[in-house]
Amino acid sequence: MIRVVVGADDAIATGANLVAEVVAARPDATLGFATGATPAPLYAELARRRQAGLVDFSRAHAVALDEYLGLAPDHADSYAHQLHREVTGPLGIAREHCDFLRGDAPDPDEECVRYERVLARGVDLQVLGIGRNGHIAFNEPGTDVASRTRVVQLAPSTRQANRGLLSTLADTPEAALSQGVGTILEARRILLIARGAAKAEALERALRGPVDPACPASALQLHDDVTVIADEEAAAGLAQAGAIRST
Ligand code: GLP
Repeated sequence: MIRVVVGADDAIATGANLVAEVVAARPDATLGFATGATPAPLYAELARRRQAGLVDFSRAHAVALDEYLGLAPDHADSYAHQLHREVTGPLGIAREHCDFLRGDAPDPDEECVRYERVLARGVDLQVLGIGRNGHIAFNEPGTDVASRTRVVQLAPSTRQANRGLLSTLADTPEAALSQGVGTILEARRILLIARGAAKAEALERALRGPVDPACPASALQLHDDVTVIADEEAAAGLAQAGAIRST
């Protein structure tokens, strides 16, 4: 089932409530965190609640969705670095409870196999963003719904869209390690966040279109516990389609 919550602050509060609920029910929960600009307000709200003593992540574990191939965890542009800086650090998740994909692993294929074993212990909640072309993690259009963690080539549009995070387009890696669509679907609960008009078409295809590898996010329709939080701009197509609205 997919629950859609549209709004700005209300939607972020809904997302934060969901994360807090998961950690309250299971203090040593494993949380999967997405990188990118979209979830930043959610992470900021969670950090605020942690500061206020409303939620405690000290026993929680963190896993990642994806990582650029070739970047070491201490590289400023690596997703591991971004997660420590913007998520697990502010939330107070212990370093030894963080297990992220190693972009600089000597054998990337073996690293993906290792990561499948890590994830097989169970992900209680996976936070996701969505790419403008409908990708989730780095599963680009055409990805099979049963795909597992593996090395993937990035679409030129994805490299371009993510360019702001890295110094130049030329510096942006052409490949990544990514949880597969099938891997993501094994998380117990999923929280997808979309913000901005640039995501409206992808979100509409994901939620209202057929389940189709052309839009990898549409596979979320196969999961039984998905919450989507979107601002008005990202939800524009859903409104026209008469989708559920609740704020
Ligand atoms: C990258 C990440 C995705 C993320 C997407 C959208 O491609 N691999 O996990 O969802 O970017 O990022 P943003 O939220 O910055 O638009």
